[in-house]
Amino acid sequence: MMPLTPMPTEPLVEMRGLKTHFHTDDGVVKAVEGVDLDIYPNRTLCVLGESGCGKSIMARSIMRIVDAPGRIVEGSIQYRSAEGSIVDLAKVRHGSRQLRQIRGQDIAMIFQEPMSSLGPIQKIGQQIAETISLHRDVSRKEAKEIAIEMLDKVGIPRPRERFESYPFELSGGMRQRAMIAMALSCQPRLLIADEPTTALDVTTQAQILDLIAELKEEFEMGVMLITHDLGVVAQVAEDVAVMYMGKVVEKGDVYSIFERPQHPYTRALLESVPKIGGEKRDRLPAIRGMVPHPLARPTGCTFRTRCDHFMPGICDVNEPAMVDIGDSQAACFLHLEKTHD
Ligand SMILES: Nc1ncnc2c1ncn2[C@@H]1O[C@H](COP(=O)(O)OP(=O)(O)OP(=O)(O)O)[C@@H](O)[C@H]1O
Ligand SMILES: [Mg+2]
Repeated sequence: MMPLTPMPTEPLVEMRGLKTHFHTDDGVVKAVEGVDLDIYPNRTLCVLGESGCGKSIMARSIMRIVDAPGRIVEGSIQYRSAEGSIVDLAKVRHGSRQLRQIRGQDIAMIFQEPMSSLGPIQKIGQQIAETISLHRDVSRKEAKEIAIEMLDKVGIPRPRERFESYPFELSGGMRQRAMIAMALSCQPRLLIADEPTTALDVTTQAQILDLIAELKEEFEMGVMLITHDLGVVAQVAEDVAVMYMGKVVEKGDVYSIFERPQHPYTRALLESVPKIGGEKRDRLPAIRGMVPHPLARPTGCTFRTRCDHFMPGICDVNEPAMVDIGDSQAACFLHLEKTHD
């Protein structure tokens, strides 16, 4: 784990009460259902949770790239610009200049699927060099050299030759690296990475995570990393948020979360944290039962249907609020009970 760094005072992004819903013919899918979360400069926030819990839709809400029929229905995403002004990304108009500028320059996102951000008909080196020219005060020649350096940094062999390749000429892994090079080359203030290295081999994955960490320090970049890999979390996170059915059920610094998880869901997720010298099992383990259907959200605490600590008459009646427990926060009635003792 990273050494403890002092918490910067002002977050780069503050999400408050964020709700992103999909109005479908069958009903309303509450993909994100009241998320409060902060992302700080020079810190990596890892977002954990089983498939379908709303990680990607939350990330895409920040970038304002949620596909129809999904839309932000409530809440705010306060983004602090380099000049110190605050922009509510939840309210910025689609297609506006401001949004385009923030997306191209301030916030970059990398996905598991690289073709979504690489243009198909332009050489990858040129795409990267153009991004660099757009955002930095450098000559064309310098932009090309920086692009080649970025291709090299993400582990693309013979980067000078690859500069001239088209995306379709590269293997999936190489395309993934090119996309990451492109996202990082505009020196974003916030990088949102949605399982960016899942499809890559372990060595490349480690290289890319190192590169992200390096750039994070160098440019005080805030990072939100979505991953299923607890080994990655242990390696790169300063902060952790655990999501379940569209809500953050626990959040805190990585030490508190790993050493003293408070929510029964977090405990279940972390049961197989890789132990040094122990058996290596760093994928999320299976948790008893199944995530309920998104259109059949349980009343009260949504995790109660799978929770070993379910308290009838309490957990199924009210929604637990986030409470402070030591250095972290969790939304669970077990802790409310304790504070009432
Ligand atoms: N286009 C859509 N229409 C309706 N529901 C959707 C749509 N896209 C996503 N959802 C729903 O939103 C919820 C959150 O999905 P999301 O993709 O954010 O999950 P996730 O945590 O990223 O999962 P994974 O780990 O599998 O990537 C899910 O219930 C999903 O079915
Ligand atoms: Mg996802």
